[in-house]
Amino acid sequence: MAEIIDGKKISQQIKDELKERAAVLRAQGKTGALAVIQVGADPASCVYVRNKKNACAYIGIESLAYELPEDTKEEELLKLIEELNQKEQVKGILVQLPLPKHICEDKVIQAISPKKDVDGFHPQSVGAMTIGEPGFLPCTPAGIIELIKRSGIEIAGKHCVIIGRSNIVGKPMALLMLRENATVTITHSKTKNLPELCKQADILIVAMGKPRFIGAEYVKEKAVIIDVGIHRDENNKLCGDVIFEEAEPIASAITPVPGGVGPMTIAMLMSNCVQSIEEG
Ligand code: GUN
Repeated sequence: MAEIIDGKKISQQIKDELKERAAVLRAQGKTGALAVIQVGADPASCVYVRNKKNACAYIGIESLAYELPEDTKEEELLKLIEELNQKEQVKGILVQLPLPKHICEDKVIQAISPKKDVDGFHPQSVGAMTIGEPGFLPCTPAGIIELIKRSGIEIAGKHCVIIGRSNIVGKPMALLMLRENATVTITHSKTKNLPELCKQADILIVAMGKPRFIGAEYVKEKAVIIDVGIHRDENNKLCGDVIFEEAEPIASAITPVPGGVGPMTIAMLMSNCVQSIEEG
């Protein structure tokens, strides 16, 4: 029987700590707003954006919502970002991804001032993270580190296998695990012998985006399993990339879906916002 890593509970602890820090800052006259920009009305994005606004309200940070139509021109979006870069009160800018096809995501990410880049996606933030300089860390990988540490799991010296190499999760995850002194293997869709590699993992982080793909043959005895996937199965029930009922009896600890990694992403976004307000 594995320990179930309760992301809901841990994220709540973090949000309560942040609420206190935000109150202290407010008493010192330090406030700030998070600007959340959504282009179009992708249903999943709508849920994420609503959750982000609710988290701001809980912690006591102002949120400004910019809901732009699907056919917004790239230059209009870039102009809005430039205005928000200049606004003193705005301490964080988040553009919900994915963007409509006619808008270049890289251009948009690079338009955000690194001082307000609470998603941690700007090349300057990525570079700072890579060499261990201060800066905003991307929320999902930072949340996973926090989840593991707050569950009392040692990272140093462990073999961590990551499935997925996206800019949002896989790549930064590898760098943060390396920073924690893990031995890191990154795998992806072209990797050969994936089950054999995964079976060597003390910590297996799955961000491949394939519903219920990772079964018993990928899991080492007593491994820690972190499931970043979130999908709806054929019965419309939420599921991850991992076949939970196969992995759980073998693992020592595992994150559920929902209630594992998901809530941590928002908690870390709030952490970046409070950090930004602190830094003025
Ligand atoms: N879309 C999926 N994940 C994220 C995220 O962490 N930030 C933003 N802005 N968009 C996303």
